[in-house]
Amino acid sequence: MGYRYIGSKDKLSDIIISEIKSTKKGAKHIIDLMAGTGLFSLALREKGFQVSAVDVMTYSYHHLNVHLFLNEAPLFKGMETIIDFEKYKTQNLFGGSNYETVLNYLNNLSPIKGYFYNEFSPDGEPTNTLRPRKYFTAKNAAKIDAIRKKIKNFRKKNAITEYEHSLLLHDLIMAANDIANIAGTYGHYLSKFVKRAEDPILLYTSSFSNGGNVKGHEVFKGYAEDVASKLTGDICYIDPPYIKRQYAANYHILETIAREDEPEAIGESGLRPWRDQYSNFCSKVKIRSSFDKILTNIKCNDFLISYSEDGLLPIDDLISFLSTYGKVVKKDIKYKRFKSRTDTKKEATLNEYLIHLHRN
Ligand SMILES: C[S@@+](CC[C@H](N)C(=O)[O-])C[C@H]1O[C@@H](n2cnc3c(N)ncnc32)[C@H](O)[C@@H]1O
Repeated sequence: MGYRYIGSKDKLSDIIISEIKSTKKGAKHIIDLMAGTGLFSLALREKGFQVSAVDVMTYSYHHLNVHLFLNEAPLFKGMETIIDFEKYKTQNLFGGSNYETVLNYLNNLSPIKGYFYNEFSPDGEPTNTLRPRKYFTAKNAAKIDAIRKKIKNFRKKNAITEYEHSLLLHDLIMAANDIANIAGTYGHYLSKFVKRAEDPILLYTSSFSNGGNVKGHEVFKGYAEDVASKLTGDICYIDPPYIKRQYAANYHILETIAREDEPEAIGESGLRPWRDQYSNFCSKVKIRSSFDKILTNIKCNDFLISYSEDGLLPIDDLISFLSTYGKVVKKDIKYKRFKSRTDTKKEATLNEYLIHLHRN
């Protein structure tokens, strides 16, 4: 299943990169301001660009560490004294590297009836509601609890490096996506378990691209508005949310895996308190002031902005707002529409726009 992310630009990366190249010949350093899955940052790296990537979500920070800073499996040297390598190597499903052995060890942990089991599985006893939630089967939730506990513990003992830590959390997020009982986002769980959700959770080795350089990139976790003044680049690519749905609410479980905490799970959906990651780009009223902070503070004169005909701001309003900062050119790209379960009447494709702003 892999990534399940609203607005991921994975399929559009070639088009956007060719637009970057034609917008500014010789551009070397690209800012990916709302990087999400980090797949576009990876595509930039593979094409030889230096990347500064930003997102407000912690899971994005871990994906970006993996995509920008790793071109092969890290060595997991510190783990050699922590787990019984010989035992887990001989039973190794995948082969022989330390990375594979660590995943094999994690895949073989005994389940623990912990936070995920209680808050997100049908056999749990959630703290704030009487009705247990069904994001994961009881077995998978207890397995996630066991894996989370170990990863946190490895890091606490300094047995894994920062990037090894990000890689294990990235792998756990990808594995959770495979067996989550959801329709698209984690905004709510499905009432009946789908077949896929009943498969046992399994961590798989990530594949590593060796395209481009793994040095010279930067990753920031935080609001683009706040980070803007620290950023310099030849072109700034901005891929903001374009609908009202907040990423922090729709991906709360992935954020909890990434932050390694046990927040209060609120209401029927069990959302973590997420206002600290509220995005102004999901609000018609606040979007302009946030764009203003970004466009005035980043040390960069060329911006490429993805937006959609389904966007909160009508495209003409956005264009006239951006025109107050400089010269604007709009290009149209056809794209497969993100549809929620209730949107069955909408057309399958929509116009996605790529707007070039050359700031005065
Ligand atoms: C359309 S998605 C980006 C998808 C990304 N281009 C990809 O290919 O995966 C929008 C992203 O903006 C992030 N975001 C929303 N508001 C933000 C803000 N003010 N500062 C930084 N990131 C923000 C969200 O967390 C989300 O990951």
